Amino acid sequence: MTEPREFPEILAQTAIAVGPLLRLRMNGLPAEVRHVVGLHFGWWTDDGIASDAPVGHKLLRPSLALLACQAVGGDPQAARPAAVAVELVHNASLLHDDIIDQDPLRRGRPALWAAKGIPAAILAGDALFFAAVQALADAPRADLTVPALLAAVQDLIEGEYLDVLSEASTDRGEHSALQIAAGKTGMLLACACELGATAGGATRERAAHLRAFGRHLGIAFQCADDLLGIWGDEQTTGKPARSDLRRRKFSLPVAAALASSTPQARQLRALYQTGTPLSDGDCARAADLIEQTGAREATMLRVERHTADALHQLSLAQPAPIPAAELTALADYLIRRDS
Ligand code: FPP
Ligand code: MG
Repeated sequence: MTEPREFPEILAQTAIAVGPLLRLRMNGLPAEVRHVVGLHFGWWTDDGIASDAPVGHKLLRPSLALLACQAVGGDPQAARPAAVAVELVHNASLLHDDIIDQDPLRRGRPALWAAKGIPAAILAGDALFFAAVQALADAPRADLTVPALLAAVQDLIEGEYLDVLSEASTDRGEHSALQIAAGKTGMLLACACELGATAGGATRERAAHLRAFGRHLGIAFQCADDLLGIWGDEQTTGKPARSDLRRRKFSLPVAAALASSTPQARQLRALYQTGTPLSDGDCARAADLIEQTGAREATMLRVERHTADALHQLSLAQPAPIPAAELTALADYLIRRDS
């Protein structure tokens, strides 16, 4: 390979490299659980009609793992278990998150809990999580990779729990919203990069820079996602419009708006303190208020700042040029999904 690949090509090749291994791992699950896991992944319908897509959704975290491995001069084959593991943890967390958030849609399809019930979705998530650990335990350098994954999962759980605790809250600062973003999104992206680099034989220092790259990228991604959650359309997000506002989530734009000393901040606070989910009209009003405080703009600036920090960390890892260009293309895509 002499030229960096475009973003769609990177994802397509990750799907080819990782998709079969992901499916193979799932063959080890009990048949009933495997069936609902396949439904979640979009591999087949409830009637068992198979789709021919190798994976059925984007593989961002696996792509990060493979590219981080290549960035330190490793053979991407070595990072395939890491790629599978982070994708499984990510999906486990989504299965549980949709239950917690009572979100009926995921990737434009019914969320598993909505289609097959909460017990099925809890158990499918548990199965994916332990399959992820197994994928690393079966691969070289498990003494390093398994503890790194387990630590990332604790960070993910902390971020998710803080997210839940902060729902409808109006008295936490922006720092709290950033802590949530770093925990629930940054840490798994950080882990994907760290595990990929470790599989590629990176020194501790290079792996740490790649990990920091992933963490900043994750925060930038979550800021962009929070913006999409308010101003994106259902087609892009695959989720009901403004569901974060409806549930009065303490997202980054909301935190920034509430932190502003403006009349709009006071009105937004009053809306968030109503004690019930917001109506369509209130959601539209909340979105306008947030925009008027300048918080939309401020969150976009945060996206830019964390992306710049991510790219700085990437350069400190002294990556090989082609994977570096591809990691940069991936970062660019993540933050620019028409927010
Ligand atoms: C989505 O946030 C949620 C996460 C990225 C993390 C969820 C983490 C857990 C449930 C804990 C970990 C659990 C296991 C089994 C590993 P969001 O609701 O803002 O995003 P969304 O809009 O995509 O739902
Ligand atoms: Mg959610």
